[in-house]
Amino acid sequence: MHTASAPAKVILFGEHAVVYGQPAIAVPVSSLRATVQVTSGKGLHIVAANLGRTLPININADVVDDALALTAKLVLQTLKLPAPDLTLTLDSQIPMASGLGSGAAVSTALARALSSALGQPLDNETLNTIVYEVEKKHHGTPSGIDNTVIVYEQPVYFVRQQPIERLNIAKPFTLIVADTGKSALTRVAVGDVRKLYEANKDHIQPILDAIGSLVKDARLALEHGDIAALGPLMLQNHAYLQEASLCSTGLGARVGTAMKAGALGAKLSGGGRGGNMIALVTPETRNNVEQALLNAGAVHAFFTMVS
Ligand code: MEV
Repeated sequence: MHTASAPAKVILFGEHAVVYGQPAIAVPVSSLRATVQVTSGKGLHIVAANLGRTLPININADVVDDALALTAKLVLQTLKLPAPDLTLTLDSQIPMASGLGSGAAVSTALARALSSALGQPLDNETLNTIVYEVEKKHHGTPSGIDNTVIVYEQPVYFVRQQPIERLNIAKPFTLIVADTGKSALTRVAVGDVRKLYEANKDHIQPILDAIGSLVKDARLALEHGDIAALGPLMLQNHAYLQEASLCSTGLGARVGTAMKAGALGAKLSGGGRGGNMIALVTPETRNNVEQALLNAGAVHAFFTMVS
């Protein structure tokens, strides 16, 4: 039996602007994972336990709509192998449509598990290409940051179409990730920014440029262990995203709640409009901030150490 997994991710700085060529910073959340187990079966099937469905895979079909089926098809095409008699059972702890990279994580785990069950485990570079293909089919115009941080499972300073840069985090810090409970599709948020951009480039381009320059400052702060500098940068990044109308009222309120409860900084993370927000906390403030967010209606919150 083969098992493989992949982590969730959070974007620390630069979401959306990264689609337009600006840099962004993302880190894996290794405690929250999608796992795929491979057992023998008759034909190729994917059992998505969380989604309550079993999917027979026809890799010869011209159009493969389902993201998991498409992942399997691309793996087999890459390895030049026919569909095997295997059942791939997916179990994911990562909530969907909440900015945590669930789609890229399940595709990565599936491609890893299938290729290693076939005796030809794919390297990260090939995996990244496959998962990016799947992301493109399902998310419109993704920058590639989600698949990259998830496949390599390391902090990244990411610029579209540039070689991958590992980011060195000089001093670990803790984030709370809090779920607004409102799911929001990244594809829709990215499409809306595109419309805004096309309609009013003069307004949106300076916001994207300002986000890019802030991400460079954040990189220096992270590399120098200057945690105190991160909070104001998170707030500034959030304000820019708000200006690009990416913030639901719920998300904005949660950021305010976290700050009042003692967070050093907070912002939306990922596509926005709902999903998760992140807050930078210290050992002294973490419980206070968590409680305040839950009292304010966050449906779920967890801590992650970034290192
Ligand atoms: C989604 O996690 C990040 C976005 O910037 C989209 C992308 O980069 O593909 C919103």
